[in-house]
This record gives sequence, structure tokens and C-alpha cells, in this order.
Amino acid sequence: MAKLIIVSNRLPVKLQEKEGELLYKTSEGGLATGLGSIYKQGDNLWIGWPGMVVDDPKKQQRIADDIRKESMSPVFLTETEIKEFYEGFSNETLWPTFHYFSQYAIYEQQLWETYVEVNQKYCDAVVAQAGPEDTIWVHDYQLLLLPSMLRERLPNSTIGFFQHIPFPSYEIFRLLPWRKELLEGMLGSDLVGFHTYDDMRHFLSSVNRIVGYGSMHGWINTNSRSLLVDSFPMGIDYEKYSSTAATEEVQKREQIYRGNLNAEKVILSIDRLDYSKGIAQRLKAFELFLEKYPEFHERVTLLMLVVPSRDAVEKYKELKEEIDELVGRINGRYSRISWNPIQYFYRSYPLETLSAFYRMADVALVTPMRDGMNLVCKEYIASKSDQKGVLILSEMAGASKELSDALLINPNDINQMVEALNTALTMPEEQQIAHMKNMQESLQRYNIHHWVSMFMDRLSYVKIKQLSLATS
Ligand code: G6P
Repeated sequence: MAKLIIVSNRLPVKLQEKEGELLYKTSEGGLATGLGSIYKQGDNLWIGWPGMVVDDPKKQQRIADDIRKESMSPVFLTETEIKEFYEGFSNETLWPTFHYFSQYAIYEQQLWETYVEVNQKYCDAVVAQAGPEDTIWVHDYQLLLLPSMLRERLPNSTIGFFQHIPFPSYEIFRLLPWRKELLEGMLGSDLVGFHTYDDMRHFLSSVNRIVGYGSMHGWINTNSRSLLVDSFPMGIDYEKYSSTAATEEVQKREQIYRGNLNAEKVILSIDRLDYSKGIAQRLKAFELFLEKYPEFHERVTLLMLVVPSRDAVEKYKELKEEIDELVGRINGRYSRISWNPIQYFYRSYPLETLSAFYRMADVALVTPMRDGMNLVCKEYIASKSDQKGVLILSEMAGASKELSDALLINPNDINQMVEALNTALTMPEEQQIAHMKNMQESLQRYNIHHWVSMFMDRLSYVKIKQLSLATS
């Protein structure tokens, strides 16, 4: 029977070794959370890196056997590959460029060459598992070359590609020395998906100006075949978040945390450690808010969770230091014996704890400088069983296109963030409920299952259309 093969840099689990024992932890980030409920169906399979260096072939085999039972197949990366492909080209060249931080991007031929080699490694791993009828769904910026590599080896296969991060405007994308190769890599797909219409438009414009292929209603005709480009805003597993938040266990936790926090109002901030998330800017806005609105002293607490991520990359290390300093400065300036304006945690948390935090938060402050979609804001909404709470959301997050009931802000406008905080903290309950209700209805409907079926249906449609074009 035909199966779906999901391919992404990282598997939805992270391997760790403790006292000789192998442990499997859930991976951070939207992708792992988003597709978590899909890959275990039928014979489906997820191919990716288990997040740990394993050099011993026997151990590699043991891990492969272990996780095969969970519908996963590993691609092992060496230490050099992690340095040059993952930390290097993926996260020091592509990530900053695609998030409009091109001043942070490095351009090194060696990193590029390892990026090509590792994409080839993933290609071999997929070819070893794929049957002719299978559908291959490649994810994200670490594997931009994979669709074309697969197309060469499996010319008739069905290949979808989805990019979870923004696609920058042509003026930014063209800065990359390997811009043409990257686009050609993506063009091996039958369907290329983005979260937003704007990302899709930027991609089509780069294809046109760099590779020379025009498009009509998202269809691109290369010299040999046609493919479709479209937008598919990703949803969350709404049911999972709303039902977890409604459990007694989570409600109990919420009460305990609330009691311990000793604040009338809680503002919540949750992100992976990343400069694209605007964490430092958010802290500065909160500091200015405390300065401008002293009536909130001893009444409001910012609960700030930063999930460790990519901490071997220089810019991430620097950001961690900047956040530590800012939190120290603000707490040093405003804390009282019985009140800390910021409660800051640098670690990851299990779903039940996050769910209790979401329930407890009167305001969620989600203010990325740039974000492909942002699922944290959607999880917050889904967890609000009583529909009370206000979302402050950056215009630069893909999710802002769907969530017009949030208080939308420009994360570069510190004064606007300060005023939004005041508006959110003083918003009448009926108004909060009206906005929350609208957002919940939309997220419940456009959930992760809807997203997967939209993408899959469109992919089948592309294959049918290609056949009819070939025979006409
Ligand atoms: C974002 C990316 C994912 C990535 C995740 C976590 O959500 O779109 O591709 O897996 O961040 O980052 P990491 O570098 O730890 O895989």
C-alpha cells in the first residue's frame, strides 16, 4: 500500500543518553508538534536526525530498530555535519537570511558544500525506503535541495515541499551566493507550500527573477514539467490543547502556580531562544511599561519561558547573555520583597505545565520580529477554556493574517507594545470573550488535520493535472 514519507531535518523525538540508557524526548518547535499526530497512521514513516551524535554502527542499528516501531527512521549526522550543515549553513546562513536578519548571515563555501552533501545523505535515506507509489513530503529550510535530488532518482514520484519559516523578499534572498541552486532544489517538488500568501509571492518573484520561470495562478512551468506553489496556513492539534487545558490535573496546577506567583495579572511569554522571536525587544517594552504605568507595580508579573535552542551558535549565545542581563536589570530595578516583575525560566516544560501557564495567563505577549507562522499564540487560544484572556500578536508573525481579533502590534514600535499591554490588562471581560470566541472558532476549524488534508488534496490534484497536461 502507498505510504506517506515525511522528511525533515529533525525527527519528532530527540535522543539522549543517560547512564548508558537511551531516552527519547519530544522535540521542540512547531514542526514536531504540528505533524506529531499524523506520521503514526498506517505505514507512514518519518525520516530525520535523532538529535544526537552516534558513531558506533551497532548502536546506530539498535536505535534504528527501536524507533522503527514508532514509525521513524534515523539519518545520523557526524559532528562535522552538525557543525557545518545544521549550525552552519542552515542556522547561520539560511535562518538569518529568511528571517530578514541578513546582517547576521555568513557565506562560506565549505558550509554550502556540506549542506549539499547532507541533503544527498537524506536523499539516499529516502530512496532506501520509498516505493514508486509513495508520497514524499519534505519539510523546511534545512532540506531545500532534497526535492530535486529525489526527482532525479525517482522521476515519477509525488513530492511535496513545505517551508515552515518565512520566504524573504527577492531583495533579501538575492544576497545568497547559492540563490539559484537553492531555488532549483525546491523546484523538484510537485507542490511547494508556504504559510502565507506573502511568502508564496516572494518565492514566485525570486523564481522569476533568478531562474527565469514565470508563473500563472501559482503554476510554474519549468522546461520539463509543471508544479504548483500555494499557501497553507498551518493549524494546531486544537483538540489536544483544549482538552488538556480542561483536565482536572491542569486546573489544579494552575491554582498552585497562581497562588505561588502572588500577582493579580499574569503576562505570558514563551519562545525558543531565538533573535527572530523579539525577546529582548519585548523585555525592553515591559520595562518601559513598568516605568509608564506604576499602578501595575506589585500587581502584574511577566512569566517568561525561554526554551534552550541552538546554543552552540554564536548569535544565540549572545542573545542568551542579553536576555539574562535585561531580566537582571529590570528585576533589580523594580522587585520588592514580595514581588518580582519577571519570572524567568530557561528550560523546556511538559505539555501539562505549559497548559496550566496558558490557562493562567491574562495576556499572551507573542511579538516576534519575524515568524513563519507561530504556533504558541494558537496554543494559548486553544487552552483558554473560559475564553478570558488577551493575545498581543506581532504583525510579522504569519499567524497575524488569521488572527485579526488579537491586538496586533509592530514589534519595532516599543510605544505601541506598551500601550497594547495597558489595553490588554484593562480590557473588559465581555470584550475579551468576544475576541477569544472568534479566534477559537477559526482555529478549531482550521486545525492541523485540515492543514494536512488541504496540502495532500492539492498534491493529488497537481499529479492529476500534470497527467492531463502531458496527454493533451
Ligand atoms: C523551527 C523550524 C524547524 C525546527 C524548529 C526547532 O520551528 O521551522 O525546522 O526544527 O524551529 O529548531 P531546531 O534547530 O532545534 O531543529
